[in-house]
Amino acid sequence: MAKPSPIFTCAECGAAHKKWTGRCDACGAWNSIAEEVPLAAGPGTRTLGAAKGRRIELSRLSAEETPPPRAASGLEEFDRVLGGGLVPASAILVGGDPGIGKSTLLLQAAASFARQGVSAIYVSGEEAAAQVRMRAQRLGLADAPVQLAAETDLRDILTTLDAARPGLAIIDSIQTMWADHVEAAPGSVSQVRAAAHELVSFAKRRGTAVILVGHVTKDGQIAGPRVVEHMVDTVLYFEGERGHQFRILRAVKNRFGPADEIGVFEMTGGGLSEVANPSELFLSERGQASPGSAVFAGIEGTRPVLTEIQALVAASPLGTPRRTVVGLDSGRLSTILAVLEARCGIPFAGLDVFLNVAGGMRVSEPAADLAVAAALLSAREDVALPPDMVVFGEISLSGALRPVGQTENRLKEAQKLGFSQAVAPDRSKIEGDGGIRVRKMPDLVTFVGEMFAA
Ligand code: TYD
Ligand code: MG
Repeated sequence: MAKPSPIFTCAECGAAHKKWTGRCDACGAWNSIAEEVPLAAGPGTRTLGAAKGRRIELSRLSAEETPPPRAASGLEEFDRVLGGGLVPASAILVGGDPGIGKSTLLLQAAASFARQGVSAIYVSGEEAAAQVRMRAQRLGLADAPVQLAAETDLRDILTTLDAARPGLAIIDSIQTMWADHVEAAPGSVSQVRAAAHELVSFAKRRGTAVILVGHVTKDGQIAGPRVVEHMVDTVLYFEGERGHQFRILRAVKNRFGPADEIGVFEMTGGGLSEVANPSELFLSERGQASPGSAVFAGIEGTRPVLTEIQALVAASPLGTPRRTVVGLDSGRLSTILAVLEARCGIPFAGLDVFLNVAGGMRVSEPAADLAVAAALLSAREDVALPPDMVVFGEISLSGALRPVGQTENRLKEAQKLGFSQAVAPDRSKIEGDGGIRVRKMPDLVTFVGEMFAA
């Protein structure tokens, strides 16, 4: 047999290249490409057995074939992000930076599922069973009926899982797994892919829900979780700012529920505790009404979440003024600055602009545009916005305000938290006033005139 020619894969996104380059064309990452030995068809790769190629008509699926209902863990924030509980036979990836709290979260989730009667196995490839036990003790979960295994050999793990047939298996982490039929180091793209493939097909074959933990990596030696995103049903990322207690579990892909759903947790000495009302949390640090602050009534997944957008505008000593953004897309900031300049005649040239979402939250909705503009204008004019006001609306390049979805939910949440007025785009669909005064505006020029006219 001809010797397989080498391929070069990107450890960030898994893209294959014919030759080595310093930068991956597919995802733009630098220094992430390494030579990989192509996947050999080893003994472990033939697995489907009796079910091979079996067809069944959609309409003939009997009740037996349709999956049983979801299992809830009772950890409500976790269940919500999954789309309402754990779907049997599903494969879930939980990615996140090292040390963000993935192992803590999943051990807590395993214990919660186990207490609800879902048999759970937690396989750690990073810590010894005794260490996991110590962590469980610290979390007050020492008596939870979870089975532990400290193992990295994929064949052994599959044998164990096959014998135990658990309802849930957690693999912490996919980068430490080692499949002996693949000639590559653990953590390489081919190992991570092969291990994920085996575990996902085990999930489908045996009806076990499998959760894979993946560390987000900073260098090209170890494959990142993006390499297996396409193989799994659900992709969750666990994120948070260092120095903040808040952790956000975000669904970026979900075959069984809405994407963009978030669950909010707080890291405490006794593990992660759920935050039932994130708006309260994100606004809790808000002090007196000060220039540069605007409250955005946003929607994350199926839930309204209020966040504070903060801006600082100061004369710049630099030829090219700074544009620093935390928690928002920097391209969006540039667009809004350009619209303010071109349509409203308010220039930001020669001014440094700092923009921040308070509490370590990340906002990606276009509906945040108007709140960003409001914070920028308030900072630039040194005029505080009314403290009891929320703002939302998308800004188009013409300077017009476009209505956004779920207006009523946004207003209801704002009212619940004690806000009494809102600025929304004209044409927003609002039935009944919901006890909150809504000022509808057609465009940004009107907004500037009404809010900042001397
Ligand atoms: P861990 O779950 O090990 O992170 P990951 O698996 O994502 O690498 O969490 C590690 C961090 O969490 C560590 O910095 C300590 C902190 N932590 C707490 O603050 N309280 C706790 O009860 C536990 C278990 C961890
Ligand atoms: Mg860990």
